[in-house]
Amino acid sequence: MNDPLAEEIVRLRAATPGCAQVIHFNHAGASLPSQATLDAINAQLLREATSGPMEAGVEGARLQEQARHWAARLLGTDSAAIAFTSSGSAAWGMAFGALGGWGAGDRILVGRHEWGGNLACMTQALQSGARIEVIPCDESGAVSVTALERMIDSHVKLIALTWLPANGGLINPAQAIGEVARRHGIAYFIDAGQALGQLPCDVQALGCDVLKGAARKFLRGPRGTALLYIRPEFMARLKPTQLDVLSAPWDGHAFTPRNDARRFETSEVSLALLAGLANALKEAMELGIEGIYQRIQALSLPLRQALGQINGLELRDLGLPGQQSGLIAFTLEGWDVFELKQRLAESGINLGANGTAYTPLDMRARDLPAIARIAVSHLNTAEEIDTLLKALRTLANERRQTSTSTSNP
Ligand SMILES: Cc1ncc(COP(=O)(O)O)c(C=O)c1O
Repeated sequence: MNDPLAEEIVRLRAATPGCAQVIHFNHAGASLPSQATLDAINAQLLREATSGPMEAGVEGARLQEQARHWAARLLGTDSAAIAFTSSGSAAWGMAFGALGGWGAGDRILVGRHEWGGNLACMTQALQSGARIEVIPCDESGAVSVTALERMIDSHVKLIALTWLPANGGLINPAQAIGEVARRHGIAYFIDAGQALGQLPCDVQALGCDVLKGAARKFLRGPRGTALLYIRPEFMARLKPTQLDVLSAPWDGHAFTPRNDARRFETSEVSLALLAGLANALKEAMELGIEGIYQRIQALSLPLRQALGQINGLELRDLGLPGQQSGLIAFTLEGWDVFELKQRLAESGINLGANGTAYTPLDMRARDLPAIARIAVSHLNTAEEIDTLLKALRTLANERRQTSTSTSNP
């Protein structure tokens, strides 16, 4: 296997307490943080408890700016374009809410794989007469750039894309969509929740105005942290619906929203979590996102093939084989996916299970009530994959034998 990180992984796993406790394939839900990330969080909490919480804010603010520096490097931008929020959905909602000014006939074009939380936000615009329209997919199930181009007219005010959907391995053509958006001068929002830390993510190349993602997934940051990028030239278009003394400081005459992305931050945050985030981002950047991506590919390709050989297991990923992410969606004959997840958890194996709510347009279009989801990260090993496959084969046989014995009394 072409794996530039092979030697690093032993060290990384030893430095991650969760790796000794569970076989974790739920990195798309949230990954396992390193001990150093936990230490950074605890150190800030301890400083707050011993020096005084506000007094410890000086060091906390320094670490927050370190996190911003690494986040900017991750995305290929400047620190001023980065805000931190508590979740990916909060980031998206704030940016969308700040667009404002929706009117009758305005059109929002979305990919079929759009994250449910983003769709929930967009429904607010419907009250003003705007419409949400789904861009058709190509034969591989990805958002069709040609179909998008045909839909463009002067009423299109926003293109929203979930780059890597939550319900499988599809990688949408985010950059090609960005080219269309730029050419027509249309606002372009990317949900990069499953992309951050999994594959290279350069906001200049993507051509987006807004990009966001939680840090708890492939970046291995703490829960409750997320990144929001705003293209500097787009900043003035966004009027935050909520302001405070940080996002709109008093200048002696008025409260004026800041010119940088921190117009979306709040004055009170968990500096401990941001200290942890600084460490997680630094670790990911020092390892190199391209290397992480290569390793995820090297692990997930053969896993997909082996899963396809299990009787009764159906892969549910969209996208072209060989060009998919580390998220692998499947169903197993005879098993409710939530029950399957529970049974595997009893053997110390974590995976995800999603119903329709997270990706409602796509799940309904494919008539899929739910999927089980294996999310491979660079932390996983070939041995863990073997254990997972063995467990799935056993469970597949268990149900097939039960159904054979009940149908042949
Ligand atoms: C594509 C995508 N967007 C958004 C989210 C949710 O982010 P958050 O829970 O931080 O709001 C997820 C997964 O949890 C996701 O897969």
